[in-house]
Amino acid sequence: MCGICACLSKQNSVQLVVDGLKKLEYRGYDSAGISYLENNEIRTIKTVGEICHLEEKVNGLFANLVIGHTRWATHGAVEEKNAHPHLSMSNKISLVHNGIIENYKALKSELSTINFRSDTDSEVFVNLIDLEEGDLLQKFIHASKKVQGSFAVALISDKGDFVVGKRESPLYVAHLSDGGVMATSDVYVLNNLATNFFTLKDDEFAVLKENEISFYNKNGEKIHKKCEKMQKFDKISAIFEKTHMKSEILETKNVLKTTLENYFNQNIFENLNLPKKIKEINLIACGTAYHSALLGAEYFKRASIPAHVYVASEFRYGNEILNKNALYIFVSQSGETADTIACAKICKEKKMKCLALTNTPNCFLNQICKKVLPTFAGREIAVASTKAYSCQVFVLFLFSLYLKGEFYQLKNLLEEFVADFKFTDINDKLVDEVLTYKKIFFVGREEDYVTALEASLKLKEITYINCFAIASGELKHGTLALIDKNSLVIAICTQEKIKDKLISNLEEIEARGGKIMLVSNFDIRDENYLTLKLPNSFPLLMPIVSIIPLQFLALKSSEKLGYNPDKPRNLAKSVTVE
Ligand code: G6P
Repeated sequence: MCGICACLSKQNSVQLVVDGLKKLEYRGYDSAGISYLENNEIRTIKTVGEICHLEEKVNGLFANLVIGHTRWATHGAVEEKNAHPHLSMSNKISLVHNGIIENYKALKSELSTINFRSDTDSEVFVNLIDLEEGDLLQKFIHASKKVQGSFAVALISDKGDFVVGKRESPLYVAHLSDGGVMATSDVYVLNNLATNFFTLKDDEFAVLKENEISFYNKNGEKIHKKCEKMQKFDKISAIFEKTHMKSEILETKNVLKTTLENYFNQNIFENLNLPKKIKEINLIACGTAYHSALLGAEYFKRASIPAHVYVASEFRYGNEILNKNALYIFVSQSGETADTIACAKICKEKKMKCLALTNTPNCFLNQICKKVLPTFAGREIAVASTKAYSCQVFVLFLFSLYLKGEFYQLKNLLEEFVADFKFTDINDKLVDEVLTYKKIFFVGREEDYVTALEASLKLKEITYINCFAIASGELKHGTLALIDKNSLVIAICTQEKIKDKLISNLEEIEARGGKIMLVSNFDIRDENYLTLKLPNSFPLLMPIVSIIPLQFLALKSSEKLGYNPDKPRNLAKSVTVE
């Protein structure tokens, strides 16, 4: 995680870098800092907490060469000494780093002459670089051969050198339209600042001068790189509420509509040029995207295509047997989750058919897979994914219809679904009631079980309540032992064929003193239940309908508990380290 932004320009690079860091805050917000050059001396300013604190501290400052960083702590506590940038002991080089140096302990023990000022792996890296021979580029290249792990790094020296390089973690560089150059972790930072950009590949380096960017490979040889055109980024949000999360939930209907229109108007499925018959589909993802992949697999199975779902961090080191006849779909909002990217690389190297399902134009996953199913959810800022999740589920459903040959036939029905899409909120009284329970469980069967998983993830990540989801048929195999009068079981029930089975499970919970909250579109009356009534819709698309009030449950609970739902502790939106 962590975001880096570095700039050399005649303009005030401090402002450009701080603005860039604000756009990168989704990658971590434990601390932030900049280094800049003043009279051949490197000066550094750091703050703990969000970028706004740094912004206050650098107010009025002017510098041409600046490197900046927003941190998600990996090594070392959230303290100012561990915030980036890190200076080498000689104070001649400053570094910002995104990634993890896995062998930093071994390297640190070899650097016995250094007095380390932080607990980070990154400070080891900057000292390693400083102790190498040659100019800044050569030092960096030599040191990079000694480190294991991942890095996107920007370096400045007290002589005014500006060098960047990367392995595994993303890094982009560009000439700015108003003059100068910038390096950053996310192309989005360059939006409205540049018209073209360069993507650094692993073990590529660049030396940046005000009007020139030179690229080098790991042998220090100059290489030529082609630039790519910036794609237009959507507005952050068309709806403005107090929190990004609320705006983003409320945007769901609009973004589903845009997604559907684009899929009909742009022949996206046809343009993929996929083989006529797909014999198997494997979906790989992390977090919320993994949950949409679970639903996708259900949809593909209904289209008579065997489908399997994998958590990316498990798949990458597992013993999966790859199938040349299968299609591998990598689902990711950001398109830069480290584990998902690693899996795509493995599959691509083994010549599997790969497809990226992402919400971010130009993202790394798209570049690896080449074939892309876009979601049109627009930029998502809140760490907890909401509208992007709904769009992922929708696109996977549309794709299953396409593979079944029914996509165009069902145009009217799909348009009707979007036009009639209703938001179900959850009233405050119900939220208060939920918050009185010490133990919260989410249950459901089949598609509703996936909704239970996603609802539970939403609640825990922004309220820190210890809750979990379980397939209701599994309750008897252990979890029922936890049920008592302090337990609330939130049961999702939207599928007719398993309705009665679920109700029997709920009886078993009540018999043990547990309280039930039923989230359903069916008229199931039981005066002991708390109820959250859902609108009716197409059964297969009910997961998109039923998740909305559960997203609101998480949001409202978080606010009532006094937290910031957009920036939950310990988390970041893009998980760019494994
Ligand atoms: C983080 C985010 C989640 C997201 C997951 C996968 O954990 O907080 O909201 O679902 O990463 O991210 P991706 O960008 O690959 O969908």
